[in-house]
Amino acid sequence: MKMKKTIRIAVTGASGQIAYATLFRIAGGIMLGRDQPMILQLLDLPQAQQVLKGVIMEMQDCAFPLLEDVFATDDPEVAFKDADIALLIGARPRTQGMERADLLEANAAIFKTQGAALNKVASRDVKVVVVGNPANTNAYIVMKSAPDLPAKNFTALLRLDHHRAVSQVADKIQRSVTSIEKMCVWGNHSPTMYADYRYATSNGESVQNMITEPNWNTEVFMPNVAKRGAAIIAARGASSAASAANATIYHLRDWLLGTSGKWVTMGVPSDGSYGIPEGVVFGFPVICENGEYEIVQGLDLSDEFSQQRIVLTLNELLEEQADVQKLFAE
Ligand code: NAD
Ligand code: LMR
Repeated sequence: MKMKKTIRIAVTGASGQIAYATLFRIAGGIMLGRDQPMILQLLDLPQAQQVLKGVIMEMQDCAFPLLEDVFATDDPEVAFKDADIALLIGARPRTQGMERADLLEANAAIFKTQGAALNKVASRDVKVVVVGNPANTNAYIVMKSAPDLPAKNFTALLRLDHHRAVSQVADKIQRSVTSIEKMCVWGNHSPTMYADYRYATSNGESVQNMITEPNWNTEVFMPNVAKRGAAIIAARGASSAASAANATIYHLRDWLLGTSGKWVTMGVPSDGSYGIPEGVVFGFPVICENGEYEIVQGLDLSDEFSQQRIVLTLNELLEEQADVQKLFAE
């Protein structure tokens, strides 16, 4: 097999639980294929370096053919140096009883520093996915803190919500998850998100026409998807990790390698589509090709219910954005 040029992948929060469920799959070639060699550049706090050392020992023990090098650091400028891809996972996770808004303050400073470091040392085309919550607003902070890099390269993880929505619908209609296409999750990765199966199909048939039960959408589906993160925390005593890792891997794989015309959900800076103000990092249905994403256009959000849901999630994002403006004041 002809090998591609080696790429550098930076991962933050590298000794945490999501990273542990991510790193070994990336190094095994699950994300970008078995022809893509890589160097992994792992960032975590000084107090996490000991654990990170153990993670690297385990990676070495896998003797991954694609892993040319892996190193640990507590310095963002070392971790992001020449990075082609950055997975920003490191943040304080939500614990039981906390809402995402509580995390905003604690995490905002982290993402400002990391944005500035990416701006200074990363590849000029670095592709960034923010996983650490509140993911959309953290992605906005990183993007704003890296003015020399293309704004479109800063994205937030909404793929987990997309997978949750697909899985709920597949279970409801008793079809396989692979039969489901054209799912949308609009807005914020938070309970205000608008999970929307109006356009979804299963083997080409309208999902909406197959679900006849009144109120299943508003009373079962939407709350189940929107509150799944909290339900996992209640069940596991810790926030989702393996499923978040899986979603992160698919987010990047599809962005870099393409979706063959299929829709996936990504949190991306709005270009004004659907009336979402430019720059707001918002969950949209996208199609990816040649390392670029395009927001799916022409969907109808004009009905009263969709309008209400879009306004709710957009207003939450605008409030979060307003709360972090002080970071950019000086
Ligand atoms: P974790 O506590 O297991 O790991 C977080 C790691 O980040 C720790 O190792 C910590 O030391 C590190 N860290 C903290 N500050 C850092 C900094 N400034 N630089 C580098 N590393 C730093 O948490 P986790 O379960 O891996 O979750 C990570 C984040 O992902 C949380 O914010 C969580 O809420 C979020 N999350 C998002 C989604 C999503 O769909 N967007 C899903 C699940 C979890
Ligand atoms: C999730 O959706 O599982 C994560 O964002 C964790 C959380 O805090 O909800």
